[in-house]
Amino acid sequence: MPTQDRHFYTRIGRYGKAAIDEAANLIRAGETVAVPTETVYGLAGRADSGEAVARIYAAKGRPFFNPLIVHVASMEQAEALAIFDDRARRLAGAFWPGPLTLVLPLKPGADIARLTTAGLDTIAIRISAHRAMRALLDATGLPLAAPSANASGALSPTRAEHVLKSLGGRIPYIIDNGPTEVGLESTIVGVSGGGLTLLRPGPIDPEQLAQVAGAIAVRDADGSITAPGQLASHYAPSKPLRIAARSAAPDEWLIGFGPIAGHASLSPTGDLREAAARLFDLLHEADVQPLPKIAVAPIPEEGLGLAINDRLRRAAYQNIDIQ
Ligand code: TXA
Ligand code: MG
Repeated sequence: MPTQDRHFYTRIGRYGKAAIDEAANLIRAGETVAVPTETVYGLAGRADSGEAVARIYAAKGRPFFNPLIVHVASMEQAEALAIFDDRARRLAGAFWPGPLTLVLPLKPGADIARLTTAGLDTIAIRISAHRAMRALLDATGLPLAAPSANASGALSPTRAEHVLKSLGGRIPYIIDNGPTEVGLESTIVGVSGGGLTLLRPGPIDPEQLAQVAGAIAVRDADGSITAPGQLASHYAPSKPLRIAARSAAPDEWLIGFGPIAGHASLSPTGDLREAAARLFDLLHEADVQPLPKIAVAPIPEEGLGLAINDRLRRAAYQNIDIQ
């Protein structure tokens, strides 16, 4: 079995034919490659190989009980792996390719390593709109398991440099195509006999989902965690973080929004789309400032603000926990 002891000189290739060819060769050979999607950079490996998937877990230091998202190139490939009902098909039709992940029943006999789904009988599946991920899927012809390309529990990467900082030396190759457009991880929706469940808020908000597929529950009725990776302490910077801050304490680096300027702003005009795209970038930046704490201005609890606040609360929770 691959272990965490493997060391690499991590190379970075600018997006283009040469980088895709090189990445596809590595993937076919069972290696891992970081690749941008429109949400965040992912760490891809072939989803049909237990060994490749074990290397993803090892590089991230991710617990084996936390399943991975599988990226595919087409609806046809998706239907070979998962069972779609009407609502799932409507959601896919409306939002794929794009920042939506569907958790669906795994198709019996699907060519997916058990480790990819952490042994679950469901599979998280997605078609990305990003040219680099799409080119890699086309070049390999394989479904690719790709969680966010960061060490487990750390901030998601929206730039190749973030990946290098978090996973440098642990993976062989990064495809660099600049900062990601959306900047927040995909919305995850569970589709089961019982109904639709929002497992992770994201770029596509509940109202947009409901318009296409009807009522959607925001959590399981019993409040249990059905996306195993949705533990409270996720997406954490290394410093304490305070949310809904209207001004900075002397030891805080303030991330502003709208009228609250801060040391840097998510969006001076109060645009939530711009704020989502800049969120992880500014959290990474805050993490390397000399000031020992981070504060973030209030973000409205609507539309994309729901997903932004979800990530911020998790980041803040982690720090309450460790203090
Ligand atoms: O935007 C994104 O979704 C990025 C890009 C790279 O695709 N990926 C990403 O992956 O955010 P990751 O592994 O960081 O988060 C995936 C989440 C985890 O919380 C995991 O527990 C959940 O999806 N998940 C995966 N398979 C699942 C399943 N079968 N049932 C429930 N949750 C699942
Ligand atoms: Mg992640």
